[in-house]
Amino acid sequence: MKVLIIGGGGREHAIAASMRKSPRVDALYCVPGNAGIAQIAECEPSIGAMDFDRIVSYAKEKAVDLVFVAPDDPLAAGLVDRLEAEGLRAFGPRKDAAILEGSKAFSKDLMKKYHIPTAAYETFDDAAKALAYLEHAAMPIVLKADGLALGKGVLICNTLEEAEAGVKEIMQDKHFGDAGNRMVVEEFLTGREVSVLAFVDGRTVKTMTSAQDHKRAGDGDQGPNTGGMGCFSPSPFYTKEVDEYCRRFIYQPTVDAMAAEGREFKGVIFFGLILTAQGPKVLEYNARFGDPETQVVLCRMKNDILDVVDACIDGCLDKIELEFEDNAAVCVVLASEGYPVSYKKGFEIRGLERFRGESDYYCFHAGSCLDGDGRIVTGGGRVLGVTAKADTLGEARRKAYEATEWVEFDNKYMRHDIGKAIDEA
Ligand code: AMP
Ligand code: GLY
Repeated sequence: MKVLIIGGGGREHAIAASMRKSPRVDALYCVPGNAGIAQIAECEPSIGAMDFDRIVSYAKEKAVDLVFVAPDDPLAAGLVDRLEAEGLRAFGPRKDAAILEGSKAFSKDLMKKYHIPTAAYETFDDAAKALAYLEHAAMPIVLKADGLALGKGVLICNTLEEAEAGVKEIMQDKHFGDAGNRMVVEEFLTGREVSVLAFVDGRTVKTMTSAQDHKRAGDGDQGPNTGGMGCFSPSPFYTKEVDEYCRRFIYQPTVDAMAAEGREFKGVIFFGLILTAQGPKVLEYNARFGDPETQVVLCRMKNDILDVVDACIDGCLDKIELEFEDNAAVCVVLASEGYPVSYKKGFEIRGLERFRGESDYYCFHAGSCLDGDGRIVTGGGRVLGVTAKADTLGEARRKAYEATEWVEFDNKYMRHDIGKAIDEA
């Protein structure tokens, strides 16, 4: 089969690496891709993930059998619908189902209607009403821009002053653009966070192994929110009891709710969970693989990814048994100093060849490109996702940090406490 992957980050590199392991894949393409993905797939950097017309022409020109749409923006904007209308086979939710991530107000209303455990909330499309409500609300409180905001549209406010500034930022100054036309105000929850990714075929849901992301830029969870600075899998806090509870009250009910609403979900649902004293609750849904969760999850999956993707599209996921290795993985993101606020790029990345031939070490490229001289240079805030597998989380962590020393570039920045929480488990 010929497969085209849409996207160009560490997640897409991990998906491409998984596809490469499938004996059924004989040609692999990626748009826009990046310098790392280009080593295992043919990339077309001039086509963006939102450039639907050119994606369709490219897919037809290469006669691909499957288009795997990985990022949130093209899913929410209906790329899967467009591909299907052009007679192409696509993996990912259609627009009417991708709204599960595309609108926080939609997902909160869905959870309320179908009694899926989540934080109490109110939705506002008027700043004055939101401000009036906040005057009497308990602090801390959480403000969320309704739409997609690169994972950054969530503000945790400790005081009324912070909450007022947050309303201004989201609804009045439109810091997150139109994503802030509506805003969800949500009860602040405390507990361990766990990410669970699941394949869904419209009816059946099959979960992958659990993971935990580190969203803040600095050690000790300080500093601004980022796309994710590192990750580990599995989460030792995701016990059998938690899993059973979530299956019964969260996973299947979510898939059934979408079907009942006439918005059949096919693709991957990312359940962002928080384990509170009152039990697990949903913090957010994403309608896609997570980044960097994918880097630590797919490298542990034993199944042929193409078999699973086919089963999701064809509605026969019940016939598939997902299997994961009984080990652990840790991913440490090497970023450009200053990310996510402002940073320089274009620096040469050295030492990448050190990963060649290593079986339990991976260097997924998140933001890299080729310069005019054919050198691989930094091309984004998150640059590489250095990942290692081992029998235990502690050993995987040691190996991942060891491998972060193999690569060098000016401005290299990382957190030093990825996976530290496992010491407390
Ligand atoms: P989200 O994009 O909805 O996952 O939010 C980003 C991060 O904000 C989450 O990973 C949590 O750390 C935090 N967060 C979101 N909602 C809440 C909440 N209701 N209570 C506490 N923290 C939250
Ligand atoms: N790592 C969180 C996300 O992919 O949204």
